[in-house]
Amino acid sequence: MRQMFAYRIHEFGGPEVLKRQKIDVPMPADHEVLVRVRTASANPVDIKTRAGKYPLIGTDKLPYTLGRDFSGVVEAVGNAALQWKAGDEVYGFVGQGQGAYAEFVLVDASALGRRPTTVDWTAAGAVPLAALTAWQGLFDHGYLNAGERVLIHAGAGGVGHFAVQFAKIRGAQVFVTASGEGIQFVRGLGADHVIDYSQQRFEDAARDMDLVFDLVGGETQQRSWAVVKSGGALISTLNEPSQIEATSHGARAARYTARPVGKQLAEIGRLIDEGRANVKVTATFPFDAIPDALATLEKGHVRGKVVVDMTKS
Ligand SMILES: NC(=O)c1ccc[n+]([C@@H]2O[C@H](COP(=O)([O-])OP(=O)(O)OC[C@H]3O[C@@H](n4cnc5c(N)ncnc54)[C@H](OP(=O)(O)O)[C@@H]3O)[C@@H](O)[C@H]2O)c1
Repeated sequence: MRQMFAYRIHEFGGPEVLKRQKIDVPMPADHEVLVRVRTASANPVDIKTRAGKYPLIGTDKLPYTLGRDFSGVVEAVGNAALQWKAGDEVYGFVGQGQGAYAEFVLVDASALGRRPTTVDWTAAGAVPLAALTAWQGLFDHGYLNAGERVLIHAGAGGVGHFAVQFAKIRGAQVFVTASGEGIQFVRGLGADHVIDYSQQRFEDAARDMDLVFDLVGGETQQRSWAVVKSGGALISTLNEPSQIEATSHGARAARYTARPVGKQLAEIGRLIDEGRANVKVTATFPFDAIPDALATLEKGHVRGKVVVDMTKS
């Protein structure tokens, strides 16, 4: 059996539970594709999963390979995955499957898109999870339309920096919270109104929002009810928003988990190749330094994405 290196956890805990190990290269089932990973990105879910704080990955899934999204080259395809062939350059999101911090990853054929070709492998690997989360939050759950007002909390982070650009492309009026160097960064992405949340209460600068896209949760989410207009919506990637508050504001509220959707990845890739959306990679680490990549993300204040280059050790 062919073997590969992967970064895995056998138990939940701190950085010390993440181990580089040799394991068998998996075989694709009928609907699956085996991809040789070129780059993978670091996402907060990797840290939550490692710590045992991500409810969808319990002890029954251990040992578990971390890493959720990647760019790479198709190595082999299952019998029912004939839309892909060896050598195709792709990018994708594994959902709750075994992860991309490995030399090869198995992914459902429908979860892959052709990688954008106008950007390098590093930028391509930064896209799938963060961009799909932004796309689905704004459009599948938030139903954002041209001319509407959206407040995006944490616009400078991995998800946020895509959300700002997608909302502008849709023709919305975009309000964003950020701090420090993130202020200039989100301005450069085209945000109409940038609120420095460390200096000012966002409630004083944003009102009557059709949509609040919450990437922060907690107190920020709770305070956001004050700025959602009647008939509007509060959509969160974090804690479940209160349905009692939603009803009392005549608004809609939902929390969602991003899904792997290859068709959306193809559309996002087109926007990147047309130069209408940009990917910001803030730091790149070699395969052997995956723990450092996660530590960088965990420190906070990320602008865009942290990426791991699996071809370098
Ligand atoms: N449900 C899902 O499927 C899903 C999918 C993807 C992500 N998520 C979650 O969504 C969150 C964002 O993900 P991400 O990948 O974008 O994280 P990230 O890249 O680590 O970015 C986090 C950003 O939040 C900013 N921030 C922190 N506190 C803030 C506040 N009070 N107000 C405004 N901005 C604040 C940080 O900037 P400063 O601290 O410098 O201001 C940083 O830019 C994470 O908690 C992640 O777990 C959920």
